[in-house]
Amino acid sequence: MASRYPASWLDELRSRSEIVQIISGYVGLKKSGRKYWGLCPFHGEKTASFSVDAEQQLFYCFGCKAGGNVINFIMEIERCSFHEAVELLAERAHMPMPEMINDADWEQRRTRRERLLQANREAARFYHETLFEPAGAASLAYLRKRGLSDSVIRKFGLGAAPDQWSSLTDRLLAAGFTLDELSAVGLTVVKPPKEGGDKPRYFDMFRNRAIFPIIDMYKNVIAFGGRSLGKDQPKYLNTSDTPVFNKRKGVYAANLLRQQRHLDRVILVEGYMDVVSLTQFGINGVCATLGTALTNEQARLLRRFAPEVWLSYDGDAAGQHAILRGLDILEEEGVPARVLDFPDGLDPDEFIRRDGAAGFSALPVLPAAEYRLRRLKESFDLSQDEGKMNYIRKASLILAPLDPVGEETYLKMLMLETGFSHDVLKQQVDTARGEKRKAPENISPQAAVRKSGSVQKRITAVSPELAAQEILLGLLATGQIPKDMVEEKDFEDEELNSLYTALISGASPASLLDSAPDEETRSRYTRILMTPAADNTDQMISMATECLERIRKSSCQRQFDALQQQLKSMDPKDPSIPSLLREAQEIQKKLDKMK
Ligand code: GTP
Ligand code: MN
Repeated sequence: MASRYPASWLDELRSRSEIVQIISGYVGLKKSGRKYWGLCPFHGEKTASFSVDAEQQLFYCFGCKAGGNVINFIMEIERCSFHEAVELLAERAHMPMPEMINDADWEQRRTRRERLLQANREAARFYHETLFEPAGAASLAYLRKRGLSDSVIRKFGLGAAPDQWSSLTDRLLAAGFTLDELSAVGLTVVKPPKEGGDKPRYFDMFRNRAIFPIIDMYKNVIAFGGRSLGKDQPKYLNTSDTPVFNKRKGVYAANLLRQQRHLDRVILVEGYMDVVSLTQFGINGVCATLGTALTNEQARLLRRFAPEVWLSYDGDAAGQHAILRGLDILEEEGVPARVLDFPDGLDPDEFIRRDGAAGFSALPVLPAAEYRLRRLKESFDLSQDEGKMNYIRKASLILAPLDPVGEETYLKMLMLETGFSHDVLKQQVDTARGEKRKAPENISPQAAVRKSGSVQKRITAVSPELAAQEILLGLLATGQIPKDMVEEKDFEDEELNSLYTALISGASPASLLDSAPDEETRSRYTRILMTPAADNTDQMISMATECLERIRKSSCQRQFDALQQQLKSMDPKDPSIPSLLREAQEIQKKLDKMK
């Protein structure tokens, strides 16, 4: 059962497991500046954006944002649990395993999560077994009618929810799970007792449906999608968000993606059936979003599996619209993207059944810019001068970020389409480029940190105030900033505030990552706690001073604004007005001094 390692033992383990040495066993590292750099082992890349920080004992990839301490690294690279990673490192460092601490609260939180995942696992097993039993005959017939082979059915662990009210719930209750647990993971719908009764009523969420279990990259069953076998609505019933499932964060078939090393691209489709079907036809690296449009979180996740994403959405109008949106999201996250364009409004499943794997491989794969230009062109009447002009203006914005080779290719295309000269078009693109550059710079943390030292530049990464708090915390974590320079109230952000408290009470930066509840948070903490790019202590102190000025000034400004708001809404005869006015004046004075 779950219990916890003593914090001091973990600290000792970490200090005896030098991160640069350990990571060097897996990744070639070169020292540059204060950090070591190499090719990220967690996503495909050609230039090094994977960094190891020997001072803080952290690793962080500026490309895919994987990050953490040495234990997290072992978990990721060996694809093992926290416990296994700890054992592996302890053996290597010749440290005996410690007595575990029983921490009831922690244990309960952890066991709850484990039990919920276990319930899902049991459910997936039940559905899969049922598929080959009489109660699953209708689902099996349906999947076969859709052309699925037994081997692909097994690969994805597809299943059948019987046409009965509570077969799954009854089975799991008998196995010791509670109604509360089953309803928490969305397997069971629980209703209050009938009048006069004392037993709650319940029924299975999924009934008479073919089941697609959703499995994350650590092989946890986190949710289910259920396909109706006929005309029943909804066509797909999906698990809503639960304590172990967030549909915005995962992708369908992440478990299989993770097994496929060295993919040169991921194919992202819309439907579960598309994933299964393409896989059956031998297309690898396919996954799908979970019934929502692509999110930024998913884009970042995908980047870890391959260097490129190919959007391969349905050929209908909705799918085409989703592609443009998806391209924007991928661009925001710095993921190179292309588009597979399906003819005749078909979806990937329909297409590959019609034209086979050969037809699929022969499909044009459009670079993002080309796809955008094609779509743009459809919305203008190019037989009119005005249409041409408007088309050119918008098209220049698409060409602006391209390299010279790409630019030249599409300039030629635009010349043919509009009859404008090369010079005119080139000038438009250059103008668009200038405008793009002037727009508020959305600098990536990678670029920001590399442009060493300049607080100003790093601050543009998020809201200026939050960025200042983040940088300040990173500076504090080095131990080179006088502690009394900073106060707790300088960290208004709740998470940063708790990191600050832990640091001040003596926790090492690397140990703080154990408290991160999920990967995204761990990545953020790591980015914040990495040694800042500063040459020496003096420079760090001056960066800290700059941060503090920003933080304290905006906090003053907020107080001032709040007071003004309050004064405006008050009855002019209110007796407290004079004192509030004086207060506002005081703050105003402070603000003036800060300017
Ligand atoms: P098939 O008709 O089985 O081939 O489905 P498809 O794969 O062509 O799916 P479609 O393009 O209709 O939908 C894509 C995805 O959207 C599905 O995999 C589901 O995740 C989701 N989806 C589709 N229909 C519904 C629905 O009725 N409700 C919900 N919540 N999600 C749906
Ligand atoms: Mn379909």
